[in-house]
Amino acid sequence: MRFTIAIDGPAAAGKGTISKGVSAHFGFAHLDTGLLYRAVGRRTMDGEGAEAAALALTPEDLDRGDLRTAHVAQAASKVAVIPEVRAALVDFQRNFARRDGGAVLDGRDIGTVICPEAEVKLYVTATPEVRAERRYLELSGKGSDISREQVLADVKERDARDMERAQAPLIPAKDAVLVDTSDLSIEDALATAIAAVQTKL
Ligand code: C5P
Repeated sequence: MRFTIAIDGPAAAGKGTISKGVSAHFGFAHLDTGLLYRAVGRRTMDGEGAEAAALALTPEDLDRGDLRTAHVAQAASKVAVIPEVRAALVDFQRNFARRDGGAVLDGRDIGTVICPEAEVKLYVTATPEVRAERRYLELSGKGSDISREQVLADVKERDARDMERAQAPLIPAKDAVLVDTSDLSIEDALATAIAAVQTKL
């Protein structure tokens, strides 16, 4: 059975939690496509060219433990504006989406560019302040000493770069179901997403 669920939205809107919950609920495979851009960004921090890094990406790159930092997030959004980087990552994502047994992909351009034919598209969002607070708690819980103000500034900078880039900007697909998680608990956000998928199965 081929069935693709595309989940897009800005940083820290709840995409990761919803994607993991939806994939576990339906028994589908899950790909966090942000990790691909983070892995490319991480390689450029060591001096490698962005396109070369994207072409050379291996599964081991995605397993690195240091991809979730604020620095890597910024590096990821910088390499993500480069068309050659995006092009190098397309086939891997589309092949994943078409695997037998169902797939959930989350990112910024899944419903618009990578899988415009996805059976279900969700656009998960929340206010910048709510998203920054969540990311702040996540980062400080991991021992980072980054400030709230810095996290909010980073979130807004990354939003602007992701939404204003020429290639594959972050924008809801026309047929996406909008899920605003600003005032939703994790449980309610997940239940909303699962209900949206259920109607298309
Ligand atoms: O989702 P995550 O925060 O890990 O993504 C890191 C960065 O990778 C994003 O800010 C965005 O610039 C880029 N990205 C993208 N397209 C995707 C997924 C992530 O441009 N499908």
